[in-house]
Amino acid sequence: LAPPQAIPEKYQLPPVLSDVSIPNYDPSKSPIDTFKMAVATLVAEAFEEKVEKIYPAVEMGKKGTDFSVAIVRFKKGKPADLEVWAKKVIESFKPSACLLSVHSPDNKFLFFEMNKDSFNYHLLRHITLTSEASLANPSDPTLSYGTTSEGQGKHMLIDFSSPNIAKPFHAGHLRSTIIGTVISNLYEANGWRVTRLNYLGDWGTQYGLLSVGFDKYGDEQELIKDPIHHLFQVYVKINNAKAEQKERLDAGETIPEEEQIHHQAKKVFKDMEDGEPKAIAQWARFRDLSIEKLKGTYAKLNVHFDVYWGESQVSTESMDRATQIVQDKNLTCEDRGALLVDLTKYKMDKAIIRKADGTTIYLTRDLGGLHDKWEKYHFDKHIYVVQAAQTLHFNQLFKTAELMGEPYADKLQHISFGLVKGMSTRKGTVVFLEDIMEEATETMHEQMRSNEAKYAQVEDPLGTSAIIGTTAVKIQDMAGRRINDYDFDIKRCTSFEGDFGPFIQYSHVRLCSVQRKNPNVPVPISVNEIDVSLLNEPKVNDIMYHLATYPQIVKNAYIQSEPSALVTWCFKLSHLVGGAWETVKVAGADEETAKARLFLYIQTRVVLANAMRLLSLTPIERM
Ligand code: ARG
Repeated sequence: LAPPQAIPEKYQLPPVLSDVSIPNYDPSKSPIDTFKMAVATLVAEAFEEKVEKIYPAVEMGKKGTDFSVAIVRFKKGKPADLEVWAKKVIESFKPSACLLSVHSPDNKFLFFEMNKDSFNYHLLRHITLTSEASLANPSDPTLSYGTTSEGQGKHMLIDFSSPNIAKPFHAGHLRSTIIGTVISNLYEANGWRVTRLNYLGDWGTQYGLLSVGFDKYGDEQELIKDPIHHLFQVYVKINNAKAEQKERLDAGETIPEEEQIHHQAKKVFKDMEDGEPKAIAQWARFRDLSIEKLKGTYAKLNVHFDVYWGESQVSTESMDRATQIVQDKNLTCEDRGALLVDLTKYKMDKAIIRKADGTTIYLTRDLGGLHDKWEKYHFDKHIYVVQAAQTLHFNQLFKTAELMGEPYADKLQHISFGLVKGMSTRKGTVVFLEDIMEEATETMHEQMRSNEAKYAQVEDPLGTSAIIGTTAVKIQDMAGRRINDYDFDIKRCTSFEGDFGPFIQYSHVRLCSVQRKNPNVPVPISVNEIDVSLLNEPKVNDIMYHLATYPQIVKNAYIQSEPSALVTWCFKLSHLVGGAWETVKVAGADEETAKARLFLYIQTRVVLANAMRLLSLTPIERM
């Protein structure tokens, strides 16, 4: 038996090419790259081309082969000419620890077969070594398989979720919360330091109105018990009362100004802006209680923030500064007393930055806020995860920052996403995050109950349904490209049949259960304890090949801020594992084969769990 780390002679690979810089060639993070490079090196030599040019042309997994290269991409000519080139490659080929064979049935493509034993050996070795490293140092997210450290030393600030106090959490906030969390995880998995910021909608006349409403309809007990719902109820009531008054006023009735809700609200907000202690204290209480409540709900979703900020926190100086600069640079125009930034040249309309009564607006606060955040964080990148409906707003914000000559103007990115259609819960169409989670849990619980025998074995059915229910809602949200709209359907997305969240959890549970169900099979801890040549079924090869693509998938998801790439990968893996289950059995196999297969399933489970955690899911072990 070789020591755990030593690589047996027959699996020794050619040295890593360190003097080439090729995008996506990173053998220290992605073992299959060495095998791909063996193809590129061979073809480059025969074709008298640079390996940098050939490597990107090596296709993986096309037409049922491990690797292929289209000869016509590099050589022109009649079939007979192409045959010369194909022959040249085939004749210079020698089987190695990387490749076993090459053939070219039509002289158009070269097909290469990988040395599966060696490949399986190296991939399994890599997965075990990386998971040992990350277990030993759990606070470093760049140690596990599929991660990189390319963002090392860089700081990314991300604004996501960002709901409005005293208003329901709408679908846009739900998506922002889910997608923003995964983007944060992806950046961390690529070495960035990430600061997660929740920019609360917590300022404006409506908070004056809320205060007035609370004095009229508020209930201290209710506020403490459930601040978010209660403040919303109060807000609805006072808004209705205000509308009723308006009707009466419009009908000619006279109501003394100090009794008019509209005026009262304006006055309270003015007090707030002036920093009047009583007005501020009331508002601060609403805000603090709401944040406390939100934190609890976020925690259940594996979502957390480093900073709770908000519109109220933007400094007056920064807003004044921005207003001054745009005026100095002649970027403004006036309209009925309001000051606007004129972006018509850029097809971005005109945007108000100071209202006629001198007060600020959403854009003013975002503009001032940028300067505040820059001073505080000196970010290398700042991402806003906000629904596509606000695209114009962010275009205006970023363009204005650019025209102002701000040093951070080229570090800003709006990550947008499509609509959720038909989101409602049993309680109605006004949706609160809590209610969504509750309903997902209940529906999941009903689903689980429908299988009485299985249900009886689950230790904590409610806790488990909460986790799978959350998975269902998140996966439904991330399964398609983020820019697409989707229909919210709690019944459908909690189903165990089909490509929905529960299927991914179920696959993880099954992978966990192999070890439990085979207590008599010794558990290998290193690939040197198994005979990789016993892992030779096509179904195993498919799983291994899919595991090998994981680093590239994580990278794609990260570069495009596109969680769906990772979700699709998880579904495919779940299907491959599901398909192998009946034929690639641990139970009943001879001991060496059983050990090798058990090891394969354990490492597959490790990678699936990594992927699930990146997607902010909690992988469960039993259901
Ligand atoms: N509170 C806003 C809304 O509900 C979203 C804020 C997004 N972030 C920002 N910096 N504008 O629409």
